[in-house]
Amino acid sequence: MTSIRSIRMLSILLLAFSFIAPPSSSHSQQRKDIEKEINALLARMTLEEKLGQLQQLDGEGNGNFRPEHRDLARKGLLGSTLNVRGAQKTNELQRIAMEQSRLKIPLLFGFDVIHGYRTILPVPLAEASSWDPAVAERSASIAAAEARSSGVHWTFAPMMDIARDARWGRIVEGSGEDPYLGASFARARVRGFQGRDYSAPDKVLACAKHWVAYGAAEAGRDYNTTDMSERTLREIYFPPFKAAVDSGVGTLMSSFNSLNGVPASANPFTLTHVLRGEWKFDGFVVSDYTAVQELINHGLAANEKEAARLALNAGVDMEMVSRNFNQHGPDLLRNGQLSQATIDEAVRRILRIKFRLGLFEHPYADETRERSVILSPANAAAARELAARSMVLLKNERETLPLSKEVKSIALIGPLADDQQDLLGSWSGDGHATDVVTLLTAIKAKVPSATKINYAKGCDINSDSTEGFDEAVRVARESNVVIVAVGESAGMSGEASSRSSLDLPGRQLDLVKALRATGKPLVVVLMNGRPLTINWIAENTPAILETWFAGTQAGNAIADVLFGDVNPGGKLPVTFPRSVGQEPLYYNHMNTGRPPNANEKYTSKYLDLPWTPLFPFGYGLSYTQFRLSNLQLSATRIRPDGRLIVSVEIENTGKRAGDEVVQLYIRDVAASVTRPVKELKGFERFTLRPGEKRRVEFALTPEHLGFYNPEMRFVVEPGEFKVMVGTSSADEHELVASFEVQK
Ligand code: NOJ
Repeated sequence: MTSIRSIRMLSILLLAFSFIAPPSSSHSQQRKDIEKEINALLARMTLEEKLGQLQQLDGEGNGNFRPEHRDLARKGLLGSTLNVRGAQKTNELQRIAMEQSRLKIPLLFGFDVIHGYRTILPVPLAEASSWDPAVAERSASIAAAEARSSGVHWTFAPMMDIARDARWGRIVEGSGEDPYLGASFARARVRGFQGRDYSAPDKVLACAKHWVAYGAAEAGRDYNTTDMSERTLREIYFPPFKAAVDSGVGTLMSSFNSLNGVPASANPFTLTHVLRGEWKFDGFVVSDYTAVQELINHGLAANEKEAARLALNAGVDMEMVSRNFNQHGPDLLRNGQLSQATIDEAVRRILRIKFRLGLFEHPYADETRERSVILSPANAAAARELAARSMVLLKNERETLPLSKEVKSIALIGPLADDQQDLLGSWSGDGHATDVVTLLTAIKAKVPSATKINYAKGCDINSDSTEGFDEAVRVARESNVVIVAVGESAGMSGEASSRSSLDLPGRQLDLVKALRATGKPLVVVLMNGRPLTINWIAENTPAILETWFAGTQAGNAIADVLFGDVNPGGKLPVTFPRSVGQEPLYYNHMNTGRPPNANEKYTSKYLDLPWTPLFPFGYGLSYTQFRLSNLQLSATRIRPDGRLIVSVEIENTGKRAGDEVVQLYIRDVAASVTRPVKELKGFERFTLRPGEKRRVEFALTPEHLGFYNPEMRFVVEPGEFKVMVGTSSADEHELVASFEVQK
């Protein structure tokens, strides 16, 4: 029998190979060897031990395991835990599995490392605002190194749910509304977490979630039902997952929602037909937290036994927290409602990943390493840089920003101006609020000591009190410039945190109005987990910086941007509506037979509001200016399987170095099914010196031009395509060209 050590070496090679070379014969031999090893284990496992591998149980909130876990680990009846973390704690439990259980199968420790483990990086929506996948890759790789050093093997990330409705609280955890941008970030995050080999001491196994269509929850209410065409599923909601699977993601999480009447955690079409059949995914699927049990509430399963039967047969391999597989597996097997082959296949998938993680050979975390990796100065420096790169300048009239460091006095006002806890954002891993650099602390460090900084909180994030307004207005009057930090608390987005209003909560808008009335130059710094309806602020204040929740180094990063040490270059990955009543609002919509027309009543619009967004997808300013010119296509006609190069020049026409994101959109003008008015098909962020000019090239291939026809076949249809290149999805200076796909 092949030894465990050689299996590990083989699995490393195998993973490395999967990125660089097509399967070779030695590659398939390595695969066979791993499967042989798994078969040998399977042959020795009792049914109870097999079902034990399919069980994941929750630890204590503080990272401890529960007494029951010891017992189960000793008996070989536990596959994985979530939330148990820390090198010492995980080692203690692992030692029981490795030294006292019959078959010595290692435990798999999972945790939600969403945007950092202890060093907290910007929330995922913020990172997507960088329009630079390298930001997300670096961020995930920092998170992976800290988490693995702390005994965590597996993160429940990246979340790649497309979100077109800002009411949905979990919009903060993803990359926004677009499948192309989403797929680019999904790839980058999987690379960052897993690297080429997730058995490495600084990498973790990733989990693409939530499979699938969870982001389309009706009315933006978390956990709610979704219902959509197979075309929308395949074209909008699947692409980030497909990108993750193609990048070698080891696991997926089945979502809470029901999809077209069948809950995603018991959906054979998505879990087996698409995932295993079409995409050849060979990792495992974990259910979301108690999602198997919840099949009863959905009204799909009449009881727990049926819940287990439906989920396992549909393709869920590991059950998170509820215990239906374990409790009812034996009975289902006896009754012939579940086959031995189905159980074995689920166990096989889980063991395969444990082998690939190298856990049989290296089950323990290195406690010394943990101390040197966690919260290292290098990680702090990176967190600061990545956070600044994720910020979006929404408005900057009369060059209000950047601020001069020589200003005599600054008023810093607002409930988030000296806040630590909220800046961590939702899902803050093992982050500590006390590690967070607040904006007040950062500004004090940024400006000369002679500069007077007048701080006033003004009001809470979400209360009715205006008691602090007088003080805030007083300090504003005494200062040369006013910075006000407003937004949401961290808990207002994330899981179970949907909102029916997108307004600034509490009395914060009134606070901004009172400050505006002082006539002092005013900069609004937003900290929030979703698009907000900030119409008054957009119309009446001169400068707005969207900073999302920027993490441990938030204050420093914001100060870097406010004072011009970093020129902001982020772009919105989601549409900002004018009113919650416009939701869902997204740029890549269909045209309708009566497109909006302000002068014609019987067209698709609102009586009481423009149909357009407040800030469009892809929008963001800089402290310098850019000009696009000279759009060229390599051909005006191509074959359906052909390829076209689109190129354009981008020039920094301003006085500072800065970043611009060139965005390529297409439109299939007439097709056998209606097509979106615009679809992102390429983007790249550039840094240019003043006066510098670059030519950018994008390739358009069948993958970009195709869609699902009425027979649900992916095709490129003949006819005219429009190409639009701009610096947002609604750029009035965008350059337009067209080409034809020949018959
Ligand atoms: C429920 C959430 O939906 C999921 O994203 C998360 O990974 C699990 N809980 C585990 O915490």
